[in-house]
Amino acid sequence: MTKPAKKFFEPLAIGAPQPYREIPVKLERMIHFFPPHIEKMRARVPDMISQVDVILGNLEDAIPADMKEEARAGFIEVAKNNNFGTTSLWTRVNCLNSPWFLDDVQQIVAEAGDKLDVLMLPKVEGPWDIHYVDQLLAQLEAKHGVKKPIMIHAILETALGVEQVSEIAAASPRMHGMSLGPADLAASRGMKTTRVGGGHPSYGVLSDATEDGAVRTHYQQDLWHFTVAKMVDACQSNGIKAFYGPFGDFSDDAACEAQFRNAFLLGCVGAWSLHPKQIDIAKKVFSPDIDEAKFALRIIEAMPDGTGAVMIDGKMQDDATWKQAKVIVDLAKQVAEKDPELAKAYGL
Ligand code: GLV
Ligand code: MG
Repeated sequence: MTKPAKKFFEPLAIGAPQPYREIPVKLERMIHFFPPHIEKMRARVPDMISQVDVILGNLEDAIPADMKEEARAGFIEVAKNNNFGTTSLWTRVNCLNSPWFLDDVQQIVAEAGDKLDVLMLPKVEGPWDIHYVDQLLAQLEAKHGVKKPIMIHAILETALGVEQVSEIAAASPRMHGMSLGPADLAASRGMKTTRVGGGHPSYGVLSDATEDGAVRTHYQQDLWHFTVAKMVDACQSNGIKAFYGPFGDFSDDAACEAQFRNAFLLGCVGAWSLHPKQIDIAKKVFSPDIDEAKFALRIIEAMPDGTGAVMIDGKMQDDATWKQAKVIVDLAKQVAEKDPELAKAYGL
């Protein structure tokens, strides 16, 4: 039996804050990673806060095993010593079967629980992982008097996790969303690529052979299309957000932009930025295109109550296209609140 509806939103510990009924509306075009064990990187955080939508202290992969405690302490220091304003503060903790997970969560909630918006949980395999962290967070929130619930963001990066993606998305009101982790997922699935996201030159289809034996064109295909679409459906149907994760080739900004844009068009709201130059790529890609936003505004204006049918520039509009337009206009409004230049460009 699944949990009864009336019990779903009950706090899991006496004194823990009420879970959110809906995740707070926030612009989250990029989740910018920093390594908190490096002092120089911690020193850059105050500047980064105004440039990004989400700032995340990474404690998991890419942090050397002998620096895990420094990274945790560095993250707590950053959390305590900064005012984050409208920028969200996240951490990626170590995975559940690691020797560091329990101390990560216990110490961070104890010392910075009121500052932390979202806990990113790697290598989630099923709803059982979320249930455990849900209960643990509630106990720690209660113990330390944390006022607002800390949300959970799962990384979708194991074959079993992809099998269980809908159950993970539905596991708790604490779920914020999910990111695709193409590196771990490739390994877990036995995919034969050493790349972190993006395409692969050998994955594609050949055009048909012709009688004259002309050279056949190889069309590269998107390795991640199926998984991103599956993740978006699981997230949207559960009222949570889907993100593309890391793009590892910092020398290929065009490919990064293409990967981010595919995710955006398929329904993702943001991606990770692992290098400062990916912040601007994410801003560009995950803010609605100006012409598309202006056209969407015209649809909304032409159909004030969202019903009926009208023609705009020879294109048929009805209740369904009104909803499509609303997705874009709602996002443009969120972007406009943060970015006066884009607000002007959108005409908002
Ligand atoms: C991210 O964590 C990945 O494994 O791609
Ligand atoms: Mg990973």
